[in-house]
Amino acid sequence: MNKSQPSLSLQPFMRSSLEIKQQFLNFLASKGHRVVPSAPIVVKGDPTLMFTNAGMNQFKDFFLGNAVATEKRVANSQKCLRVSGKHNDLEEVGHDHYHHTMFEMLGNWSFGDYFKTDAIDWAWELLTEVYQLPKDRLYVTVFEGDAGSNIAFDQDAFDTWKQFLPADRIINGNKKDNFWEMGDTGPCGPCSEIHFDMRSDAEREQVSGATLVNTGDPEVIEIWNLVFMEFNRKADGSLEKLPAQHVDTGMGFERLTRVIQGKKSNYDTDIFSFIIDETSAVAGIKYGAAEASDIAFRVIADHIRAVSLCIADGQLPSNTGAGYVVRRILRRAVRYGYSYLNLSEPFLYRLIPSLAAYFSASFPELKAQQDFVSRVIKEEEASFFRTLSTGHCMILTVFRWI
Ligand code: GLY
Repeated sequence: MNKSQPSLSLQPFMRSSLEIKQQFLNFLASKGHRVVPSAPIVVKGDPTLMFTNAGMNQFKDFFLGNAVATEKRVANSQKCLRVSGKHNDLEEVGHDHYHHTMFEMLGNWSFGDYFKTDAIDWAWELLTEVYQLPKDRLYVTVFEGDAGSNIAFDQDAFDTWKQFLPADRIINGNKKDNFWEMGDTGPCGPCSEIHFDMRSDAEREQVSGATLVNTGDPEVIEIWNLVFMEFNRKADGSLEKLPAQHVDTGMGFERLTRVIQGKKSNYDTDIFSFIIDETSAVAGIKYGAAEASDIAFRVIADHIRAVSLCIADGQLPSNTGAGYVVRRILRRAVRYGYSYLNLSEPFLYRLIPSLAAYFSASFPELKAQQDFVSRVIKEEEASFFRTLSTGHCMILTVFRWI
């Protein structure tokens, strides 16, 4: 996958991922949003959540009406981790090219201020005018409604999209895909997703992208989800109306960058390629040489980001709770390096300096603690390699998830 040329020639020049992120934030600032920092990736004080799994988590109380927002419009890039609970993508990570443990969610929020029309208008303007994505490759979905929950078809979203897209590119979606919930309880509402078709023109002529939306096609992918928060899911499963209507959007930064840079894989963007290049130099194996080693490169590139940012946010690897999740992610990366890249001594910690440099503007906490994070990772790796080398590996490799 990494060897292939970009399938699309979307831009007169290649924008870097950091430029793409800044354009998002600048655009939302121009629409009256205050740009705020990411919340920590590790959640303290919310028993329903171990890790931040969406940009909206830190704003939950504003949606529920438990607190009043001083800023009615905010935007940011949020560190998210989806490895447990309702949103868990772990098994796909590394095997496919677009799921991640840690990812950045670009989001904009309205707390009782603008609603569907503005959210949709601005999403379209950003994607097609600022990023200049080709309109004929974009598809959107709207909530078809659910009689059981007494929620109607989202006519407002449909009518707003209809200004920009023909009806055959506006697809109805069911409760699973188009009713977004933070967890088993909490704020939720109908959503409208934006999907991008990266296939070649020949493929698109043969099979309409509309038939591939939300089917798991690796080249017709969701990039942005616009959630219209109107309900609270209570512990007994019932829905109650929230005191006000809000907007909560989440765009996968890694997918957006892939689309704009015209790459076949998220891992071929400049977000990940430097990590893969460094791992390749350490292992003496080329990315692209074989499928098994390629998966290992991707697992490592993904997992080192998750582990280092969790540690920088104060969550050390341990045997319980969130610490155990961090330890398991780290060990999964080591196991792939050991099994498929012939690495037999600590290597992950060597990736930290360039990772810290990449994140220095967005998440400076990693650079500020670079030596500490490297030390913790190196010690964890050393201890796990000792376990592997004393023969436990035969038992461990039986389990997919160590
Ligand atoms: N909160 C919107 C999303 O995660 O898609």
